[in-house]
Amino acid sequence: MMDLLKFLTCGSVDDGKSTLIGHMLYDAKLLYADQRRALELDSRLKSRDGSLDYSLILDGLMAEREQGITIDVAYRYFSTDARSFIVADAPGHEEYTRNMAVGASFADLAVILVDVAKGVQRQTRRHIRICNLMGIRHFVFAINKMDLVYYNRNHFDGVVEELEKIIAGFQVESYCSIPVSATKGDNITSPSEKMGWYTGRPLLTYLEQVDISEREKEDAGLVMPVQRVCRPNSDYRGFQGQIEAGSISVSSQITVLPTGEKAKVKSIYRGDTAVETAGAGCPVSVSLDREVDVSRGCVLVSDFTGMVSDMFSARLLWMDDEPLIPGKNYLVKLGTKTTPGTVMSVKYKVDINDGTHVPADVIYKNEIADCQISLSEKVVMDKFSRCGALGGFILTDRVTNMTSACGVIKHDLRRSDNLVWQETDVTRQMRAAQKGQKPLTLWFTGLSGAGKSVLSNALEKRLLALGKHTMLLDGDNVRMGLCRNLGFTHQDRIENIRRVAEVSKLMNDAGLIVLTAFISPYRQDRENARRIIGDGFVEIYVSTPLEVCEQRDVKGLYAKARRGEIPNFTGISSDYEPPVEPDIQVDTSKCTMEEAVEQIISRLGLD
Ligand code: ADX
Repeated sequence: MMDLLKFLTCGSVDDGKSTLIGHMLYDAKLLYADQRRALELDSRLKSRDGSLDYSLILDGLMAEREQGITIDVAYRYFSTDARSFIVADAPGHEEYTRNMAVGASFADLAVILVDVAKGVQRQTRRHIRICNLMGIRHFVFAINKMDLVYYNRNHFDGVVEELEKIIAGFQVESYCSIPVSATKGDNITSPSEKMGWYTGRPLLTYLEQVDISEREKEDAGLVMPVQRVCRPNSDYRGFQGQIEAGSISVSSQITVLPTGEKAKVKSIYRGDTAVETAGAGCPVSVSLDREVDVSRGCVLVSDFTGMVSDMFSARLLWMDDEPLIPGKNYLVKLGTKTTPGTVMSVKYKVDINDGTHVPADVIYKNEIADCQISLSEKVVMDKFSRCGALGGFILTDRVTNMTSACGVIKHDLRRSDNLVWQETDVTRQMRAAQKGQKPLTLWFTGLSGAGKSVLSNALEKRLLALGKHTMLLDGDNVRMGLCRNLGFTHQDRIENIRRVAEVSKLMNDAGLIVLTAFISPYRQDRENARRIIGDGFVEIYVSTPLEVCEQRDVKGLYAKARRGEIPNFTGISSDYEPPVEPDIQVDTSKCTMEEAVEQIISRLGLD
């Protein structure tokens, strides 16, 4: 197969991006005859001096943009005798940061246009930053519009000097600056006669020859994230995936992470063909000499430099229309593994243009932030700078399934290494057995005034009478102590519920039956509580209708909320998301408290 270079062009329309690509395709005779002809005809109509307007080649794309059709990224394919190319073209303005990131995530190299007369702009820095964040390590700076400065070398040298200072702050493997004129065709496909002082290669030649192979990937230890376990018959169990780094050979020893089990390689298949060895970039199916526990998301390694952790610090590019809220639960896809995870805290926002750190709590679309992410289980990961496959991830919204962000791991937080779960001699089971009960968390949810507090209070009395050991956590009470620093914003409620869930879990560990009475209005937070608490979580929906709650208005809060005196009041100015499938449902407007208590007791089998 002919060598392929995937590159991205960055620059705005004014920088001559379309003209540059257009000219490259035209000069290198990479257009079909009818395309050339159409261009010649079209240009004669459009430009006054009869010269060709190369940007018209990309006109289809422009037209769509003018019509307001959202274009994520446009891809174009072409080949020369030396190489095949895919060029991604994404809009360059700040509001299209997301699109550029998508284009950059696929590319090996970025061609960044700089207008020689304007020099390095804020957007030049932004383009370098986004490309680098997305893993691009090879850059070409096309210093354009040299014709407008009379091909003067000093102008070019000035820009190059500035670029060198900027690029020093990024992780870059190769870069090159080329003086070009996209309209006149200087240094695009052939050396310019007007710039004899430039001894380097023209743009297309450079792109044909630049070496983007990552040799260190070959020399590194094996990294093969398992994508699929395949069992065509009872004799063969193959682990399929792409080798992301290093190589694998028959009879070599590998380790399966996160379990750490070791085994020897029995066979390797590339497609239908058995091979002795395979290297980085190859999709393979590997079988091992003994039974080991391997599933999707496991990683086969040797000489592994990464880590197995459940917490890391990362740089994120936020892509969601909804802002990033710390504490909210997302799905984190890292390598071939998808795990629930939470952005614990935002450290700061990174100014996308100049890289400075700005304090921030909330992150909006197209912004970059450094934050800490915690996963619900330990996952195999690495720093992005060391291993792109195990260091790049995306966050997806659990409800909408949309990609909310993409990010790179900066380092693990070694929580898992420095903190070791201490097994105690007296176990959860022993504490529960001593009390003669199964620990439970009876999680009451419903509107303010629905009867959660009264009902849980009555239920606790009944449980006590049955000889059970209990604890009741009530919203108002907890908010006067443990959660006194929290209010009623979305973010504070997430944290309120998280703390209550963690405390309930501890009390379950102590062997207690816990009753919690919190509005807990968001489905996702209750799911999070279920995940934290695990076995023994029972969701009880107190479904008393809003009208009844408002009529009761025991604390006079609904009246105040209606008068606009309480912001974010659940049911009035803030949403309540009812459970879809609660374990138990009671409506206190339809039964007496005693009946409700008995209903719960019998559903739990405690009578
Ligand atoms: S939750 O939403 O975070 O679960 P929680 O159950 O702890 O709420 O607290 C609810 C109690 O706080 C209500 O019963 C009410 O007494 C009081 N409260 C004060 N302001 C609000 C508000 N804006 N929305 C709901 N409850 C409020």
